[in-house]
Amino acid sequence: MKELKLKGSSVLSCLIAAVLIAAAVGAISVPAQAKAKKKNVVVLYFSNTGTTKSVAKKIEKTTKGKLIEIKAKEPYTEEDLDWGDENSRVTKEHESAASPAKSTVRPEIKNLGAIKKAVKKADVVYIGYPIWWGEAPHIMYTLVENIDLKKKTVIPFCTSMSSGLGSSAKHLEQNAVISSKTKWLKGRNFYDESTQKKVDNWIGTLKY
Ligand SMILES: Cc1cc2nc3c(=O)[nH]c(=O)nc-3n(C[C@H](O)[C@H](O)[C@H](O)COP(=O)(O)O)c2cc1C
Repeated sequence: MKELKLKGSSVLSCLIAAVLIAAAVGAISVPAQAKAKKKNVVVLYFSNTGTTKSVAKKIEKTTKGKLIEIKAKEPYTEEDLDWGDENSRVTKEHESAASPAKSTVRPEIKNLGAIKKAVKKADVVYIGYPIWWGEAPHIMYTLVENIDLKKKTVIPFCTSMSSGLGSSAKHLEQNAVISSKTKWLKGRNFYDESTQKKVDNWIGTLKY
């Protein structure tokens, strides 16, 4: 009887060990919701027509993170956003340099103080933006060049009409205030508004 009990407990120990090892090597993805309790999450997003905002809100819902809109000091009007107009604000930003990373155009962020404060307390920072000409908008450079992302896990996400994530997140990383302790994840493009399930599945695969 005693021997049987011992055998039973050692089988259980083996099972627990196997699960732990599998989880450690990433064979089991942690359910998205389970992540909510463990880390202090901030979800930052820049959005003018609501698409990126809708993805950000889904991330907020699952992670229970703090949702913060990145607000331009001078908001982008419909005319400003007209990429077909060679004199529009976005076209001028776009043509100011070969890429936003190399540009000196850095639109001011109205709520930068509040963003900095929230990021300081966070372990994980989601950063969302629309794709503009295959890249993150210039204002996203204002963000990453002015917030301290050392020791943070950074998770970029974006939306677009058809372009992929491309190098947009990588280019942001190159200009960001980071350190060897920053964990900058690859990021993902959701194209349009996406579904809660799709967003949750993605969050479940993230290693943090
Ligand atoms: C200035 C500008 C440039 C854009 N460039 C691209 C692009 O290169 N590729 C693409 O697929 N969509 C492009 N779009 C479309 C946006 O990425 C897309 O509508 C996005 O989901 C908008 O996000 P928002 O609603 O959060 O602002 C562009 C939009 C604007 C305003």
